[in-house]
Amino acid sequence: MNVATNPRQLVANDDGEPALVSEFLAADRREPVVHFTGVAKKFGTQTILDKVDLTLRQGEFVALLGASGSGKTTLLRILAGLDQANEGDLRVAPNRSVVFQEHRLLPFRRAWRNVLLGTRFGRNARAVAEKALAEVGLAAKANSWPKHLSGGEAQRVALARALVRAPALLLLDEPFAALDALTRIRMHALVEALWAEHKPAVLIVTHDVDEAILLADRILVLKDGRFSLDIDVSPALVRNRKAQEDAAEDVNHLKHRLLSELGVSTGAQIQ
Ligand SMILES: Nc1ncnc2c1ncn2[C@@H]1O[C@H](COP(=O)(O)OP(=O)(O)OP(=O)(O)O)[C@@H](O)[C@H]1O
Ligand SMILES: [Mg+2]
Repeated sequence: MNVATNPRQLVANDDGEPALVSEFLAADRREPVVHFTGVAKKFGTQTILDKVDLTLRQGEFVALLGASGSGKTTLLRILAGLDQANEGDLRVAPNRSVVFQEHRLLPFRRAWRNVLLGTRFGRNARAVAEKALAEVGLAAKANSWPKHLSGGEAQRVALARALVRAPALLLLDEPFAALDALTRIRMHALVEALWAEHKPAVLIVTHDVDEAILLADRILVLKDGRFSLDIDVSPALVRNRKAQEDAAEDVNHLKHRLLSELGVSTGAQIQ
């Protein structure tokens, strides 16, 4: 394929213009959905992103770790187009969705209408919303008001709302942080299943190193405005329970490295 004359339109620059994919083809031939070069963000005199480079490819599942205040949400908001960088070249797939820590459902819209907010599916709209709700296990709650949903259910509606847009890039900002441990485990399985089905690139912000290792194929650590770590995690290590047991030592080593990068003393945690 001559990519130079056949540019696909997954990647767009700031103005929504398609960019030549040939610029981005490297060893990994999956389409880039994000290509940032020298992206900087300041709030006043505080530098949050210090000329970062970032490429995320179609189907990658990436976890973003970093201390509180390191700029994770700021980066996500820039990726989502909700905030602007001060400088740099930013190319992001135009179809992207975000799920935040709090579900942000409109209280005066039923679940299925919340799923459709901002979309135009015409006469099929309700069926589209119901299908998305069924995918997150909430077919029976399509008519519910947000105040009648549990925290986990509301977060699943937020996921359905993100997925109904068929995003090439799914941005998740600590989406499970407010949920109890059992619901979190169920949400992990759900997100993994949805990712396997739809294969968006996923960037998930979490404070939980175990969650990052469990879910992601690649882990980034944001520190002092830069990615201080960018590690590929073997899928076999994280997805295959048997392999995970066999590779417990590797998991421990990785966890140790991540925690130490995050400035956490690891002696006690890693067993
Ligand atoms: N709109 C804003 N105006 C000024 N400063 C801001 C603004 N938004 C964020 N900041 C500052 O930028 C820094 C990074 O904030 P950000 O929310 O991106 O951190 P974070 O890594 O997501 O932290 P947390 O893990 O606590 O959610 C913080 O010091 C924050 O106070
Ligand atoms: Mg944040």
